[in-house]
Amino acid sequence: MIIIKLGGSVFSDKKGSPENFRENVVRNIAREIAEFYPEESFIIVHGGGSFGHPEARKYGIRNGLTGVTGETAFKRRKGFSLTHHAMLRASMKVVEAFLSQGLPAVSVSSSSIFLMDSDRVAYGDVEPIRKLIETGFIPVLFGDVAVDLEKGIDILSGDQIVTYLTKLFRPKKVVFLMSVDGIYDGKPGEGTLLFELPAEMIEGLIKRLEGSAGTDVTGGIINKLREAKEIARFSEVWFVNGLVPGRLSGAIKGDGFGTKIVP
Ligand code: IPE
Repeated sequence: MIIIKLGGSVFSDKKGSPENFRENVVRNIAREIAEFYPEESFIIVHGGGSFGHPEARKYGIRNGLTGVTGETAFKRRKGFSLTHHAMLRASMKVVEAFLSQGLPAVSVSSSSIFLMDSDRVAYGDVEPIRKLIETGFIPVLFGDVAVDLEKGIDILSGDQIVTYLTKLFRPKKVVFLMSVDGIYDGKPGEGTLLFELPAEMIEGLIKRLEGSAGTDVTGGIINKLREAKEIARFSEVWFVNGLVPGRLSGAIKGDGFGTKIVP
């Protein structure tokens, strides 16, 4: 089994118009996966990109619902629903691109199967996913809104879903598709690309990145690295550029161009 995180900045331009979608990019990714399916099984987890993030930000979903009343609570519940709805539209587009390449992708709503507690996944009803895979399907999950036992509601990132699924399903490989070539020894585009990153050096890299100015770009990378450190305990991990054809299949074959986390 291989788990692929399709980053929101790969299938859409996060700075572009709401709900823009790079259909050709996702079709290319699906075509590369089709080279290995059905001999290999896959789970896809996609991010929010230009779909989920604008709504989540607008309605302050991350602030939760605990202690919130009246009009503010009403608006936040509405925002939860709208954010989920935007993610359903993203997922529909991803699934359509996969179907166009002959892949039996099936969308699974993360908010229907996961519960969070204080920002982390506390529970996941993953049996339907296991059965979908055993039956030959490609489950497509996504970063989503979720009920949080402490905060009331929260945003569940696709990266966290990947960590949770990795612990349960023990895939042989996890591939993060990003809009840059991999993990850099500094801010993307400024540092040197790391072809190999030993797992025990991730913490040091996080500290260095936290210290660098402007955490807007690195914030996402830092969270990703935190998840990668955890995932690397259970699986091989790759970070490759999802915008460049051939990079995903390279990572799947094992001779890819990007960053490989080495134990
Ligand atoms: C975010 O998921 C989901 C929502 C905003 C609802 P991710 O955090 O995995 O998304 P990307 O990959 O950064 O866009």
